[in-house]
Amino acid sequence: MIVTIDGVAASGKSSVSSGVARALRIPYLSSGLLYRAATWAALQHGLSLTDAQPLLSLLDAWEAAGQGLKLRPLPTGNQVWQGEHDLTALLHTAEVDARVSTVAALPELRDWVNAQLRALTPPFLAEGRDMGSTVFPQADHKFFLYASPRVRAGRRVLERDQSIESVEAALKLRDEQDARQSAPAPDAVRIDTGSGTLPEIIGQVLAYLPGR
Ligand code: DC
Repeated sequence: MIVTIDGVAASGKSSVSSGVARALRIPYLSSGLLYRAATWAALQHGLSLTDAQPLLSLLDAWEAAGQGLKLRPLPTGNQVWQGEHDLTALLHTAEVDARVSTVAALPELRDWVNAQLRALTPPFLAEGRDMGSTVFPQADHKFFLYASPRVRAGRRVLERDQSIESVEAALKLRDEQDARQSAPAPDAVRIDTGSGTLPEIIGQVLAYLPGR
């Protein structure tokens, strides 16, 4: 079984995905974390963010040396490791937030992320922007989460040391950039995460799944 949960930035995708996956006893995959890790790699090594080739060469060289970026889909939260190093804590900085859409716009990089995800064996729940439309169009169940920019900024400001106005402005900009490179699947069930508690929203998703 494959379940996809796509949604806009800070729509609650990770928390909802992790709760649903736990209830279904399947792993969840955070595709955004792989885009973040690639962005971190480019920033760390001073590589172009608008030319995929140097970045892909770096990722290939790491892979060949047994140091490739690897997604670890733990039930408690996804991690990305490079060899023996857990990079996860470095991937949610304001700098990565601001650059990740640019890197995610590179088609070759999207192919790299998609290949990593498609190499994994179902069952799983895949979370991101284009999981139901592009990466796993054959998924059994597809969802799309949304909420107003103000609601999402209110959530994210709890995780970032920034004002709600600047977080909201950054989210709107990222929405525009992300929308150009990823669209939700037309057959996804749309769920507003702006009202209702996390357990209620997880319950709404589970209600669509057979036997739940
Ligand atoms: O879900 P997130 O906010 O951690 O994702 C980080 C960025 O990665 C997001 O701004 C857009 C990009 N992304 C994407 O383009 N396609 C995906 N499937 C997942 C994320």
